[in-house]
Amino acid sequence: MKSVFVASGSFLPPKVVTNDDLSKIVDSSDEWIFPRTGIKQRHIVEDETTADLATIACERALEKAGWTADSVDLIILATSTPDMDFPATAAVVQKQLGASKAISFDMQAVCSGFVYALSTADLYLKAGKAKRALVIGAERMSSLLDWTDRGTCVLFGDGAGAFALEAKETTEEEGLIDSILYTDGTQADILCAGSKEHPKTFMNGREVFRHAVAKMEEVSREVLDKNGYTADDITYLIPHQANDRIIQHIGKSMGLPADKVISSVRNHANTSAASIPLAFDEMAQAGKIKKGDLIVFTALGAGITWGASLLRI
Ligand code: UT7
Repeated sequence: MKSVFVASGSFLPPKVVTNDDLSKIVDSSDEWIFPRTGIKQRHIVEDETTADLATIACERALEKAGWTADSVDLIILATSTPDMDFPATAAVVQKQLGASKAISFDMQAVCSGFVYALSTADLYLKAGKAKRALVIGAERMSSLLDWTDRGTCVLFGDGAGAFALEAKETTEEEGLIDSILYTDGTQADILCAGSKEHPKTFMNGREVFRHAVAKMEEVSREVLDKNGYTADDITYLIPHQANDRIIQHIGKSMGLPADKVISSVRNHANTSAASIPLAFDEMAQAGKIKKGDLIVFTALGAGITWGASLLRI
């Protein structure tokens, strides 16, 4: 049994905030933000909830997949910005979609959330515990920002992306080939939000940067090597979208040409768990994802958590 990719969808809230807009509220500028991060703008919610963003992304994926909502039996929503302490935001998405037969739960691995959710859905599908899954990354990172802290508020944005995956008996090489996940809780204090000391997002940027470049490359190579591939075999590397300098650094270290290394951070900023499916869906909408493509997704986030998934379209 394999977990085969069927379709993707995404949604960005319409309100756009540019670097120039931000420089009116904090002591920052496009001249500082863009060269250091590659970010030009971010989308920010007005009254949309995380569930709203996720629901629209799923509706778009369902439409492309040609599935009805009630044919879905598993919904996993990766988010660090749930709408309530409980119930899970995934349950609200289930209701809004009318996916009445799906078990639905949230997954919290911050910026690595989508890779953690893909890996979890893969286990359900391969084990025959589900047939059709929606795997979502959806975030309102703007709700976790201190808008007076220029060190963090310029880095993040809101949005959602979703994959429709289906269990399929096939001898062809297609679908999720493997995922490798890691957690190092000893580094929990370098990036956090919601604690007494740090009610809003706190980041030791240099430390996170150091871990991000080393670990995303390492785990990407590991997932390729373990499955008999090299970097030369991949069609695209789609890393977590936090900083274009990190993304380009990993691509160069892996010897990949620039057109195989996908970066959408310029327009989205860091949307945490949503960043990978958003970047992917943008490629899909542009007609750049084809049957047979071999794609590595990799992420690192608070926890710290990191991982990589290998997908054959
Ligand atoms: O999603 C999880 C993964 N997250 C990441 O991967 C993020 C990883 N880290 C980074 O991308 C980078 O560390 C940042 C982009 C966050 C920061 O870049 P940096 O080159 O490490 O800058 P810095 O934090 O060391 O700050 C350099 C200077 C400081 O001024 P002084 O102390 O040198 O005078 C900051 O106060 O830049 C100042 N600064 C700013 N200036 C204008 C910090 N933020 C800003 C700002 N505008 N927005």
